[in-house]
Amino acid sequence: MKAFLPSLAFVLFTFCHAASAAPHTIAPAGAVIVRPNTTVAGEYESLAAAVASLPEDKSARTIFIYPGTYNEQVYISRTGPLSIYGYTHDPYSYAANLVTIQANVTAAQAGSNDASGTLRIHADDVRVYNVNVKNTHGPGTQAIALSQYGSRVGLYACAFYGYQDTLYASVGTQVYLRNYIQGATDFIFGRSGLAFFGGNTMGVSGPGWVTASGRQSNDSGSYVFDNNKIILAPDAVNGTEGKVYFGRPWGAFAKVIFKNTVVTAPFNKALWSVWNTNDERTSDIFFGEYNSTGSVVTDASRPSFATLLSESEAAKYTIASAVGSDWASWVDASYL
Ligand SMILES: *[C@@H]1O[C@H](CO)[C@@H](O)[C@H](O)[C@H]1NC(C)=O
Ligand SMILES: *[C@@H]1O[C@H](CO)[C@@H](O)[C@H](O)[C@H]1NC(C)=O
Ligand SMILES: *[C@@H]1O[C@H](CO)[C@@H](O)[C@H](O)[C@H]1NC(C)=O
Ligand SMILES: *[C@@H]1O[C@H](CO)[C@@H](O)[C@H](O)[C@H]1NC(C)=O
Ligand SMILES: *[C@@H]1O[C@H](CO)[C@@H](O)[C@H](O)[C@H]1NC(C)=O
Repeated sequence: MKAFLPSLAFVLFTFCHAASAAPHTIAPAGAVIVRPNTTVAGEYESLAAAVASLPEDKSARTIFIYPGTYNEQVYISRTGPLSIYGYTHDPYSYAANLVTIQANVTAAQAGSNDASGTLRIHADDVRVYNVNVKNTHGPGTQAIALSQYGSRVGLYACAFYGYQDTLYASVGTQVYLRNYIQGATDFIFGRSGLAFFGGNTMGVSGPGWVTASGRQSNDSGSYVFDNNKIILAPDAVNGTEGKVYFGRPWGAFAKVIFKNTVVTAPFNKALWSVWNTNDERTSDIFFGEYNSTGSVVTDASRPSFATLLSESEAAKYTIASAVGSDWASWVDASYL
């Protein structure tokens, strides 16, 4: 009996906590389970196999992943909502993640940026919690970790690792809250994404550009960042000093707003960059910035195509401006 009371308290605590926010160490009822080398009937050894087991219908489904490193690419395309939870003791911090999905595929090998993605989301209403997603290829060419084509998609306390083109925010409404995003060349990029980034840490692992917005017309797309940090990644290559920028315009209508950013990565004083010399692409872009802090920022010398926003101008760029006024109906606001 002495031993029973504390364990009952633990079970009640765990249950209540799981019910209020993300499950973490116990699979939610009805979840399909992924576990390394499992011998339990009905469980799966890979996330791809678990996804393939789900019915192609409109029902809401859940997958729970036990700790481990899974070497695979995963493609999600089912119709109904899907929530994926990585086992963790701390659902609100990527730093405590215990689940990693990884692959080493380049865009050249796969045939496209999208096809090289370690995790490819081509479905609406997907939520992913506490999963590390890596493209381990490293420098040299495009090699995507996350390829995102869904709407109302949320990535929460995940970590994305790549070097060139880590996070492909390609199409659809999507939020990135409390993640880690690492890369160097154009490492957050896409053409038509409507994306909001809040409370993330971006780790710069070499000379390059945090964003490369590929927006091609004056459409509703934008990348809005609020309250993020940009740091030098622990394993950054030498020679990064003075060679990092908030972004450069892949598309002629690139639109990126950084609000309340703490910058400790070794940025160039210009903070923002043209696409390339003699192919600048700056005439129709919007690169907005408000309340950046950090020693490099204090000393900045911005080009004319970057816009320093006033408080009232900055107030127009919000999660609602980025992903739509219905955001509260699909975003897990406990991660804001
Ligand atoms: C799973 O099995 C493989 C092959 O036997 C082994 O190399 C690997 O370490 C195992 N993984 C875990 C997490 O036990
Ligand atoms: C990735 O794959 C390439 C071959 O395509 C290989 O040369 C390289 O060593 C691999 N890198 C890692 C980190 O596995
Ligand atoms: C980076 O520079 C340090 C010190 O200057 C040196 O020890 C290290 O080998 C260099 N690393 C690379 C990858 O060149
Ligand atoms: C500026 O950004 C910092 C860091 O994100 C934040 O603490 C501070 O409140 C912001 N100031 C204003 C005026 O928004
Ligand atoms: C894009 O459209 C908005 C109105 O929706 C307008 O204010 C803005 O000037 C346009 N930008 C460009 C580059 O045409």
